Amino acid sequence: MGKKIILPPPFKIKSIEPIRLISHEARKHAIQEAWFNTFELQSEDVFIDLLTDSGTSAMSDNQWAGMMLGDEAYAGSKNFTHLKEVIAEVYGFPYTVPTHQGRGAEHIMSKALIGKGDWIPNNLYFTTRRAHQELAGGVWHDVSVAQAIDPRNSSLFKGNIDTKKLLALILKAKKEGVKIPYISMEACVNMAGGQPFSIKNLQSVRAISKKYNIPLYIDATRLVENAYFIQQREKGYRCTSVKKIVRKICSFADGVTVSAKKDALVNIGGFIALRDKKVFQKMRELVVIWEGLHTYGGLAGRDLEAMARGIQEMTDDDYIAHRVGQVEALGERLEKSGVPIVTPVGGHAVFLDAKRFVPHIPQKAFPAQALAAAIYAESGVRSMERGIVSGQHGDEPYDGLELVRLTIPRRVYTREHLDYVADSIIALYKKRRAIRGLKMIYAPQTLRFFQARFKEIL
Ligand code: F0G
Repeated sequence: MGKKIILPPPFKIKSIEPIRLISHEARKHAIQEAWFNTFELQSEDVFIDLLTDSGTSAMSDNQWAGMMLGDEAYAGSKNFTHLKEVIAEVYGFPYTVPTHQGRGAEHIMSKALIGKGDWIPNNLYFTTRRAHQELAGGVWHDVSVAQAIDPRNSSLFKGNIDTKKLLALILKAKKEGVKIPYISMEACVNMAGGQPFSIKNLQSVRAISKKYNIPLYIDATRLVENAYFIQQREKGYRCTSVKKIVRKICSFADGVTVSAKKDALVNIGGFIALRDKKVFQKMRELVVIWEGLHTYGGLAGRDLEAMARGIQEMTDDDYIAHRVGQVEALGERLEKSGVPIVTPVGGHAVFLDAKRFVPHIPQKAFPAQALAAAIYAESGVRSMERGIVSGQHGDEPYDGLELVRLTIPRRVYTREHLDYVADSIIALYKKRRAIRGLKMIYAPQTLRFFQARFKEIL
């Protein structure tokens, strides 16, 4: 048997942005200045930026060409008409509410649907989605499968909802007279490591949603990646295009909220798309107050056009296979060298398991935060903490995950860049005992991970 031929990216590079690696001394100084929080680093000091896949995609020539066709009319922009048509074709929903990004959509949806004291079942949580549910007076409930928070569990669909937990919650709510305004299901669950749900699970959730007359809204921010995993992993979908799978998933939902900064290949943008005309009317009224008129939602006409074109490009089978393949290849290299990662590797990122990477750092000394800072000092690679700093809410029990996310922007880095990332992390792993824990010296009230400050424990 010959060596497996790895296909190159299905695009070539037309425009470049220089990057540079500052010295080790300068990096150590920069991370100290940033209070050991990678969100506080200056982008100029970063060599390879794996902080997030959000808004960091490279747009295509087709999208840039579309930017020049921006119709900047306050109302009724033709780019919004185009966007609506594309969303109806790709997702299958007749109504669209544009927003400036995902959390704008979450805000409007939460305000439109949630009343004080309502319960919202979710498969784990995403920070902003949960924050908006709670700000609207709702109570977040976890109905994810137990495997979701086990970094060593190799189940292929760790993003599934535990239907028993969901049913139990619905029955308890009924008994206590509490309303469940909708079931919230995230595609490629970010906080679990980018883990997908299966169509089979989605169908069971839909059956429950129908039986109890509770709408189902999907966080479709990374739906294309989820659809790709279904194509690759779920029986019966190997020969179905990702585009068809996306449409099929949406056929089981009442609507979606989307941060278009991920799958949809734009630097800014988001939307809600849905079927229910009455709910749409309500959201349309709200969007005017919080985001902008219902035909631009806080975006310029050119942004709407880039988003419409990005949505058309994102379901291309060759593109998505390459994108997820890049993430998997980085994961494989690390895993082969013994670096502890979350498996299976998710769609948008490789997650390092800090509890195993730096077992000498106790949880109260923020192992994932310390590891993210050490990776930057070692290599100039920026990553993100996904552990107790971003995972703990008030005084409720915390899910226990202690991860560092190496998030791969779409169409931005080459295999050489990711080889450098792997080499640097493997080198750091060999001298991991030298990594020190941190002490938190400041934290904001909500979403503390963005601005929290730390000091090294010497
Ligand atoms: N839902 C999911 C699953 C997300 O990952 C994000 C953002 C949002 C909603 C909110 O969208 O940023 O456009 O307001 N995730 C980014 C990340 C921030 O780095 O994972 P937004």
